[in-house]
Parts: sequence; structure tokens; C-alpha cells
Amino acid sequence: MEDTAGRLPDEAVEKLRGSECLVVLTGAGVSAESGVPTFRGKDGLWKDHRPEQLATPQAFEKDPELVWDWYHWRRSLVREVSPNPAHYAIAELERRVPDFTLITQNVDGLHLRAGSENVFQIHGDLHHARCSECAAIIALHGQEGLVTCELCQGQMRPNVVWFGESLNVRYLELAYSAAGRSDFLIVAGTSNVVQPAASLAYAALGNGGYVLEVNLDPTSLTGSASATVLGKAGEVLEELVRLAFGEPSESRV
Ligand code: APR
Repeated sequence: MEDTAGRLPDEAVEKLRGSECLVVLTGAGVSAESGVPTFRGKDGLWKDHRPEQLATPQAFEKDPELVWDWYHWRRSLVREVSPNPAHYAIAELERRVPDFTLITQNVDGLHLRAGSENVFQIHGDLHHARCSECAAIIALHGQEGLVTCELCQGQMRPNVVWFGESLNVRYLELAYSAAGRSDFLIVAGTSNVVQPAASLAYAALGNGGYVLEVNLDPTSLTGSASATVLGKAGEVLEELVRLAFGEPSESRV
């Protein structure tokens, strides 16, 4: 394991250049440079509530307005910001490596806005709501208060995966399959504490894949990854793509 402070190992650049199957796993740190607060740490607090206290079915049952307000605040915030160089670098990687899979824990939609096309948003997305009763899904366009389902009058809830809820099984199968066959996996901007995303890197390592971690600080993965680069995701990923592939193939969207 190589631990570098902001410096990209030559081996990582060379292996990425030759990669035939690439997986990128992202967390909140990838959107931090866009101005979206991460979950853990002091910036993750909202009106003295921790995300873990709000992102649960029990919290929604107890106080739906409070939880809805938190999601409304996050949606409004995300609409005001733009993708950053980390999102664009990852979109560029999709154009460079044919067998490419992007798995994100982020619900902000910024990868799609940066031009990524195939994205597993394994924790759902902020911009849709789902009926708690009939599972109908609607797009949200700035509605502030709680929304009732027009089909069955059920209570609409954010279309995200809360703590204690199961992830989409098919997504998980595809994510593990991609990680297991990947020759290169990038883990960027995640604290690696929430399963199952935290174990995807081990699926790659177990099959001889090269795992590059990019984070501001060391995490539980740091001792096991092939290399960890400590730095801002936007700066490190932009540099990684430039060193491996040269200048971007398309202008930014
Ligand atoms: N560049 C790289 N890494 C960064 C940056 C940055 N600019 N800013 C912050 N980080 C790192 C932090 O050091 C931390 O390790 O990003 C990580 C963010 O961790 P979390 O806030 O725990 O976010 P994440 O790992 O995505 O959380 C997983 O937990 O609350 C749930 O469902 C929520 O999807 C989320 C999941």
C-alpha cells in the first residue's frame, strides 16, 4: 500500500491508462467542492439534527414535516450549485474506458449533470418522491410542503434509501459484479463507513484489481487500498485523468 500526500503514484496512472474494466465509487466528498455539505463531521449537521436521526423511516413516521423540510433544503441547495472538476473527470473516464461503472452514494444528481450517463445511484435521488403506499414516483420541482400521491392519496416520501432500508438488489448485484471483475477501482470522497458500498473495494482487491482511494483524510480503507492519495477529489481526479489520457475528449456540458 502506498500512502501519498496529494501525489499520484506512477503505477496508478499507468494501470488506469491500460484499464479495460474500471469502476468508480463516490461519496459525499466528491460533491464537497461544489458546496454540498458532507454527512459526517460538523458540516453535516442541519439545525442541530444529525443525518442519522433524520434519514430513517422512523423519523419520517414521527415527524414527516421535519424530514421533508430537510430534504427540501438539500434539494434547494443542490439546485443552486454546479458539478465540480471531480464530476467532470469521472464523466471523462466513462468516455475513455468502455467497460465503465459509476456507483454513487450521492443523491444530488451532480454526476448526471456533469455528463455521466450510466450511474447507479444506489441511495436513490433527491429530485424524486415516491408514494409510501403504491410506490408511484414523481419528479419534484420545488414543492415545499408534504406531497400527497395523486393516484392513491398516500403519503409521498423522498425517493432515497434510508438507514435500515434495503438497497435495490439488482443494483447491488451489478455493482458487486463490476467491482469483482474490475482491474481498476477508484474510491473517492467516502468515509467508507456505510455498507455495502464500503465493501466494494475489497471485492476488487480480492480479484487482483488495483484500488486507488482519493480522500482528504485517511479512512478504514487506507491501509488496504493499493494506493491512497490524500487531497481534494476535484484536483486529484482531474490530474489523474490528464496524466493517464491527456486533455478531455469533449468540452464540458
Ligand atoms: N475531496 C475528497 N474527499 C473529501 C472532500 C474533498 N473535497 N471533502 C470531504 N471528503 C471526504 C471526507 O474526508 C470523508 O471521508 O469525504 C468523506 C465524506 O464522508 P461522509 O460524509 O460519511 O459521506 P459518505 O461516505 O458519502 O456517506 C455515506 O452515509 O449518511 C449516509 O446515505 C448517506 O450516502 C451517504 C452515506
